[in-house]
Amino acid sequence: MNISDHDYLKKILLAPVYDVAVASELVLMSRLSQELGNEVFLKREDQQPVKSFKLRGAYNRLSTLTDAQQEAGVIAASAGNHAQGLAYGANVKGIKATIVMPETTPEIKVDAVRRFGGKLAEVVLYGTNFDQASTKAKALAQEHGYTFIPPFDDPDVIAGQGTVARELLEQNADLDILFVAVGGGGLAAGIAVYLKQLKPDIKIVAVESEESACFMAAKAAGKPVPLPSVGIFADGVAVKIMGEETFRLCDRLIDETVTVTNDEICGAIKDIFDDTRVIAEPAGALSVAAIRKYIKQHNVKGKQLGGILCGANINFHTLRYVSERCELAEQKEAVFAARLPERPGAFKGFCEALGGKNITEFNYRYGSGEDAHVFVGVKLKGGQQEFALLHNSLGDKGYDCFNLSDNELAKLHVRHMVGGRPPTLLNETVFTFEFPEHPGALLKFLNTLGERWNITLFHYRNHGAAKGLVLAGFDIEPASRDAFNQHVEDLGYSCKDVTSDPAYQFFLAGE
Ligand SMILES: Cc1ncc(COP(=O)(O)O)c(C=O)c1O
Repeated sequence: MNISDHDYLKKILLAPVYDVAVASELVLMSRLSQELGNEVFLKREDQQPVKSFKLRGAYNRLSTLTDAQQEAGVIAASAGNHAQGLAYGANVKGIKATIVMPETTPEIKVDAVRRFGGKLAEVVLYGTNFDQASTKAKALAQEHGYTFIPPFDDPDVIAGQGTVARELLEQNADLDILFVAVGGGGLAAGIAVYLKQLKPDIKIVAVESEESACFMAAKAAGKPVPLPSVGIFADGVAVKIMGEETFRLCDRLIDETVTVTNDEICGAIKDIFDDTRVIAEPAGALSVAAIRKYIKQHNVKGKQLGGILCGANINFHTLRYVSERCELAEQKEAVFAARLPERPGAFKGFCEALGGKNITEFNYRYGSGEDAHVFVGVKLKGGQQEFALLHNSLGDKGYDCFNLSDNELAKLHVRHMVGGRPPTLLNETVFTFEFPEHPGALLKFLNTLGERWNITLFHYRNHGAAKGLVLAGFDIEPASRDAFNQHVEDLGYSCKDVTSDPAYQFFLAGE
């Protein structure tokens, strides 16, 4: 490929994206700016007709098709913002678009593509995961002569996304640092190749979800490499391997990288809501999450910082999870485990020892032993430092406590299950599973697990995301462990043995 930076500049300046996209506003986040002591600006890509920037790249690529290619139609594999952008753009241009999505794609996403694509869009549901859908899309492209439109690793897609930077410079050329989310790297590459030619002193920080940091992995390896697993909370950036061309550009042009946790993303969704009343999708809030983190880590003051609200296609019910988690992100809540003596009055004594702290959660069930194990949430005003003081003071009073504020298993599952210790000794092994979420998915999951192994614990809660998250324990005789492992592998769901997790061991494991 090896297109020069200068050619990219030309492509970006000539990209006809305004046939369909709007020049989105750059707004000052006044509340957050005041809190952080810096001016924070937000580029409102939620204002695009498909509620994400993805329309820019897809439309620009469509604009390069020959008449014959337009006549034949285009195809993509995506269940996300690329699908919607492509369907919308193709409809405007009068091009037939086929979008292949996994059969498990939530109805709401299928409907959105049909709505944006009008009569010219066809949705093909195929396979149970993205890789299968992608293979099918490439086969259909061959068979019917459709042009395959990639979501990020294509110079015209990259240039289309680069138009965001073109507007940014016109809106505020004095930014000190710009934070850009990275999934496959199309947005970051397009922005970087433009800014580094026209305003190289603007520092560009790439932001990745901790659960899908494929750019960091590529940097470490010197080339794009697949991640062993990818978390799906920020589904817009849940990419397993970075693009070749996007890596070539980002590796050279991006100044720094930052990763953020799901809790930090939830906190950023709230920050964005507080300032703008817009609800960002998790991937869309990545840059604001990074701004908060970066300012703290680098003690930044009085600077002009930019973030991009790159998408707002969130499933409404995901907000339940977001609201639960953002207090932890802001360190306004801590959750921890404590061991109390199992005797009358012990609870009262413990509550007194908490020193009047506002308790947000308290989970306990009588066990048979001498100790009671409680799961406690407390409101904090002074962050983790305040928790450290509380921890010390509880320790001084003889309570054995440990912090669970960063323990994913504890926050997602164990808090809802405290006290479920088995009455007899079991060969219990505990796994987390991810399965594609759709109506009836939980039952299907249970059916596929089969009845050969006794399920000893189970926790599932619908978070409104594309994947369902389950914690399940099984009583597995040592002799049948190999057969069980094989069965789990055959299920094809992403799964992890978490038997040694401290939250599980403390509250749930047999003694
Ligand atoms: C909302 C949102 N943010 C960020 C990204 C990441 O973009 P890229 O794959 O170009 O890095 C995407 C990609 O679909 C997205 O939908």
